[in-house]
Amino acid sequence: MYQGQCIGYGGLVHIAWADRNGEISFLLETSRNSNIALFQHEWATYLNLLQLIAFDDLRFEKIYTYAYDIRPHLIETLEQQGFVQEARLKRHVFIDDKATDVLIHALFREFYQVKLLRLRPASIQDDKLVYEWLNDRLVRQMSFSSEPIDWETHKQWFDNYLNNTKQYYLIVEIEQMQQYYPCGQVRFDENGEIGILIAPTYRGMGLASICLKLSIDYIRQENNSYKQIIAHIKHANKSSIKAFERAGFVSNGFDIIKNQDCLKYVYYI
Ligand SMILES: CC(C)(COP(=O)(O)OP(=O)(O)OC[C@H]1O[C@@H](n2cnc3c(N)ncnc32)[C@H](O)[C@@H]1OP(=O)(O)O)[C@@H](O)C(=O)NCCC(=O)NCCS
Repeated sequence: MYQGQCIGYGGLVHIAWADRNGEISFLLETSRNSNIALFQHEWATYLNLLQLIAFDDLRFEKIYTYAYDIRPHLIETLEQQGFVQEARLKRHVFIDDKATDVLIHALFREFYQVKLLRLRPASIQDDKLVYEWLNDRLVRQMSFSSEPIDWETHKQWFDNYLNNTKQYYLIVEIEQMQQYYPCGQVRFDENGEIGILIAPTYRGMGLASICLKLSIDYIRQENNSYKQIIAHIKHANKSSIKAFERAGFVSNGFDIIKNQDCLKYVYYI
């Protein structure tokens, strides 16, 4: 819609629900198509809106376009948005009696989400936020000490953690409406043991594995002695197991932590 007038329409078609992908369809009023700058602006706006639906709401893995190779400005906008060419179907359709190629471009969920995330080292001002996160019911349940944490114990532990220069406590922030909000944390102790949590409102969006990858990239650039990163995960923590595997951790048998049997995963730096 533009100033109350419908100027185009589109959506996702040929949806493969099981494979979590769909093709983008888009049609803009004919007169607006001929103004290239206007077309690119409106096409980009539309793609941005569609990404929210496809990746945040529907949790698709990829969205793609099927376009005749006759409008380079359409492809230019796609590539500016991070779409990559997956295929060129040579002389695939006849347009005005001319055999024309078809281009298939795709945008992947991970590329979309990684653009929205950034990391920063935690600071003492994060103590209350982290305190709330750590006392969340699921976080306690999946930890090896499941009792609630009191403020004094937390404060002392958090201060000590931040003061130890051989450890990293990273806060992950996500961009929404041009503002960044904390959505999780990843920390590494001095033995290379990793811990992750995603804030309750941001769970189930596929952020965990991306946060793990970003954090490992972050510590790789720091001067530390980690040769491997270790994760201990409770058997029941299915989403955590999946997130660590997706991030490239490999199963390394079992361990016992605080008298509890758990899985051990390792990432070799
Ligand atoms: C574990 C945790 C970090 C996962 O974060 P998240 O962002 O919600 O996870 P994701 O949305 O990336 O989901 C991870 C995967 O698990 C899958 N998953 C979720 N629940 C599942 C279940 N019950 N069984 C199997 N798979 C499941 C998801 O579908 C997803 O797979 P996909 O990427 O193939 O779609 C988050 O739940 C959390 O903060 N938990 C509390 C703290 C914690 O347990 N930390 C880890 C300690 S080892």
